[in-house]
Order: sequence, then structure tokens, then C-alpha cells
Amino acid sequence: MNKDELKKIAAKEAILQIEDGITLGIGSGSTVLCFIEELKNSGKKFQDIVCASQISADALKKAGFQVSDLNAVNPPDIYVDSCDEINSLKEMIKGGGAALTREKIIAAASKKFICIIDESKKVQTLGKFAVPIEVIPMARSYVGRKIVELGGEPVWRRDCVTDNGNWIIDVHNWQIENAEKLERELKMIVGVVEVGIFSAQKASVVITAKNDGSIEKW
Ligand code: 5RP
Repeated sequence: MNKDELKKIAAKEAILQIEDGITLGIGSGSTVLCFIEELKNSGKKFQDIVCASQISADALKKAGFQVSDLNAVNPPDIYVDSCDEINSLKEMIKGGGAALTREKIIAAASKKFICIIDESKKVQTLGKFAVPIEVIPMARSYVGRKIVELGGEPVWRRDCVTDNGNWIIDVHNWQIENAEKLERELKMIVGVVEVGIFSAQKASVVITAKNDGSIEKW
């Protein structure tokens, strides 16, 4: 099965885990767009929906849902999102779509994080996918030098401005054995807004659509 079919299978399964009337948090990316499509078809109604990017907000509105401000609603009961990589501890790399800061905020505010993936996102060691880091624009070079000191290879994502008006540095060449430690060290660098390593805000449940179309929940 191709990746789009697998994303749809994982999204459909996630819908089954979601009750009507809850406050729902929604992430960003192509898997999440499949989820929003399935949400529209499900006919479910929610107390409130909050989401992590303008692209998701536009898709939700187009699907007939109202999107609320996180400050104005109860803590989301469930947050649904995907990731770029996930290890067996359910720690993740996120931010391929540059929405990592808002994704992490909603994940932190939510009671449960359901991560929906196709099998290709599962890895033994995080780091093959470059780690996105959102930075204040004027701090880009400074943060880049600090990343080099930590053994990473920073590459500025030139064509990208985040929904928060900031820039993204993608860090290559990291074999991440201790995600929590690296996340903490990166967060300490002045000018870093958020780090695409999700070790504290890791997934509660993962729904994996396997290559043969079957579902694994873990
Ligand atoms: C966006 C993200 C996405 O969850 C991640 O990039 C996966 O995207 P996709 O579903 O398109 O594979 O973190 O910032």
C-alpha cells in the first residue's frame, strides 16, 4: 500500500478513539489533513477544536468546523498529530512542517496524545530525520554555532517562516541516544524558541498503519 493509503487507515482508526463532545487538539501535516478529512466524514461534534497551524485551521474551517483559541477553551482531552520519526519510547522528532512550537504547546496542554503514523516513521534511534529547531531570526547564526558545539550540523531552512514569524534550522548528523538530555540542552540556548524533539511531550498512544494495511496500537 502507498503512504497516502496508510495515512488514511491510521486516521480512520484514530477517529474510532475519539468521543463526541470532547475538546480536541489537532496537529499539522499531511497525515493530519487525512485525519481532518475523516473527521468531516465522521459527523462527530466537539465542544471545541484547537489546532497547531494555519494550514490545519484552514482545512478544518473548509470541513465545516469552528476553530478556537487555546487560551479560550478547556485543556484538550485528546491531541491528534503525526511525527517525522518515533522510537520505542514514543519519543519523537517533529517539525518537518515547521509547526513544532504550536504542536508542542497543544501537546503539553492536552490530556492524551494520539500519534498516527505509517510504518516508515518508526525508528530504533532518532536522528536520521534532521531535527527542526525554531529560532528568533536574529539569533540564527548564534544558535547555529552552539549547535555545532553540540555535534550537530545546522542547515537554515531558507524558504520558511513559521506561523510565529520565526525561522527554522534543521540539524543533521545526530544519532540521538538520549532525547531528553539533548532537548534540554537545546532549549537552554538563547534564541531557541522550540526544539523538534518531543521527549517530555511524547505520544501516549501510537496508531501505526503497517505496510500491509493492518493496524498496530502501542
Ligand atoms: C509538522 C509535523 C508533522 O507531524 C510531521 O512533519 C509529519 O508530517 P506528515 O504527516 O506530512 O508526514 O511535525 O510540523
